[in-house]
Amino acid sequence: MIKRTHTCGQPRATDAGSTVALNGWVNTYRDQGRGLLFIDLRDRDGLCQVVFDLEGGNPEVVQRARALRREDVIGVRGTLRKRAGDPNPKLATGEVELVAEELEIFNKAENPPILPDEHEAEKIAEEVRLKYRYIDLRRPRMQHILRTRSKVTKLARDYFAQNGFAEIETPLLIKSTPEGARDFIVPARLHQGMWYALPQSPQLFKQILMVAGFDRYIQICKCLRDEDPRADRQAEFSQIDLEMSFVDREDVMAMMGGFARAVWQDVLGYDIGTIQRMTWQEAMDRFGIDRPDLRNPLEIRDVSDIVKASEFQVFQQALAKTRAGRQGCVKAIRVPGGAEKLTRKMTDGYTEFVKQFKTGGVAVAKFTANGFDTGIAKHLEPFKDALVARLGLQAGDSVLIVADFWDTATKALGELRLKVGRDLGLVDEKEWRFLWVVDFPMFDWDDEGKRWVAMHHPFTSPNPDQFDFLESNPGGCLSAGYDLVVNGSEIAGGSIRIHRMDVQEKVFKLIGLTQEDAEIKFGFLLSALRHGAPPHGGIAFGLDRLVMHLVGTENIRDVIAFPKTQSGGDLMIDAPGPIDEQQIADCGMKVTMIERK
Ligand code: AMO
Repeated sequence: MIKRTHTCGQPRATDAGSTVALNGWVNTYRDQGRGLLFIDLRDRDGLCQVVFDLEGGNPEVVQRARALRREDVIGVRGTLRKRAGDPNPKLATGEVELVAEELEIFNKAENPPILPDEHEAEKIAEEVRLKYRYIDLRRPRMQHILRTRSKVTKLARDYFAQNGFAEIETPLLIKSTPEGARDFIVPARLHQGMWYALPQSPQLFKQILMVAGFDRYIQICKCLRDEDPRADRQAEFSQIDLEMSFVDREDVMAMMGGFARAVWQDVLGYDIGTIQRMTWQEAMDRFGIDRPDLRNPLEIRDVSDIVKASEFQVFQQALAKTRAGRQGCVKAIRVPGGAEKLTRKMTDGYTEFVKQFKTGGVAVAKFTANGFDTGIAKHLEPFKDALVARLGLQAGDSVLIVADFWDTATKALGELRLKVGRDLGLVDEKEWRFLWVVDFPMFDWDDEGKRWVAMHHPFTSPNPDQFDFLESNPGGCLSAGYDLVVNGSEIAGGSIRIHRMDVQEKVFKLIGLTQEDAEIKFGFLLSALRHGAPPHGGIAFGLDRLVMHLVGTENIRDVIAFPKTQSGGDLMIDAPGPIDEQQIADCGMKVTMIERK
């Protein structure tokens, strides 16, 4: 076998004159005729030009080389020389070429259905690339992405090992862990009629490792959630999962912020500086979302108090709304220069856009040197001075207003803010804006189920000064949770946990778990909490999302070697698929399909 002396990206002009052997795939192939042919040979490291020349060369080698086609796998040995033709400044090896003296064809490749070529990739449907993932992954971009991912996991292992974390694996076949999604389930052959659930995260195991005295834990793990994949979500994704004992939220945030800093420094050479912090309430009020993209300069302001005397029906009706003790409100966004930049067509589109968030529409007005103009100008004019002061209006701006319940108006304007930001190109794509969001509410009220649901998960502790509110005012009780947000995307989420059984029982009760249910589902946790549980807290980074940012893609499938499609399929192995009747019978089961309407 011709064994390589260099990778294809390595040879340089200083190596000229030496014998070099390369292994790789035939990337391109040019037969110049008259016994002269060139190939670009590719491996993980790059490309190198190889020349087969009848003149002065071995006719048998040249003859075999002429049969080479794209993606054949070969070894070549020969003498490296400075290129006879012009150097190629686009290639690291662009000054040299390997004059082949020996050729070994390791494997011929069938005519490739796709080519591992960046220009080609853009034109090929993603489904085809996923089906032939082994070819798609040969693309330099994909090689770069998965190597970056590998760099991040190595960094995680190094950083956390240096800080005393032990890497510990937790099981895949478990009982349901409530992270808010549906479980993937596995029938248990040895316990007929029973089921395992695959972990939505190792949450309870990592907490129990703290009870077990490990103090600092890390795992780079798979999490499985049977939910519909989206652009930044997969049913099967990876976390860098962490837990620490004897800590408060400041300790965890300092440790995890340090990791984010190390990653951005090492991978991008970028100093993220001090990470800003914001309460959940402020994030919702100013940006309408719990993971604000701070690169977008638009902000939401509540103007309910200003327009409460208005006779405008839309405002009146909204302000008169009440639900579960909550009143409607009027909220506005100032769009600098919007009078010119926002066309009528765009603002009409915004009304349609916000309807998907279950509100009636957006009220719009321009602001000029003479006051409000167009749209709902006449309803705003009476409150001009106060609105100018609240919103910071200047001539040439526009205002966009949504009047509805707080949560509806917040959601609608939060999404609209992002859309207007994109439409008007207000976001500097090269900037990095990190943010810790803290002081989340412990619970959300579920109107349908008529009960509280844990906002993060039910093992999250209230903030130290909030314990009293657990029972007196659950809706106002703030948690010791924290999310790390970068450019509007949540890359990590965690919390200080409940370490006392009595508090955990209270929370279970609040979310509607009877003592009996709690014992069946989480008896092991309650038992562990009774047997010496230290104060503890942790976090999980979404590894896929982290890598998406680092390599600059909005498609989560780009950062996963073998991802699932939107409908949860693996097109390469053609999963999910049927199984043998026998396999089903072994589990004591029979499949009857329920017809869905
Ligand atoms: P959480 O559910 O917030 O917390 O998940 C932590 C981080 O994982 C990423 N993430 C996802 N990435 C891709 N696809 C998904 N479907 C997906 N869901 C979540 C996000 C998110 O910030 N056990 C807790 C962590 C803890 O409390 O320590 C948990 O899993 O980046």
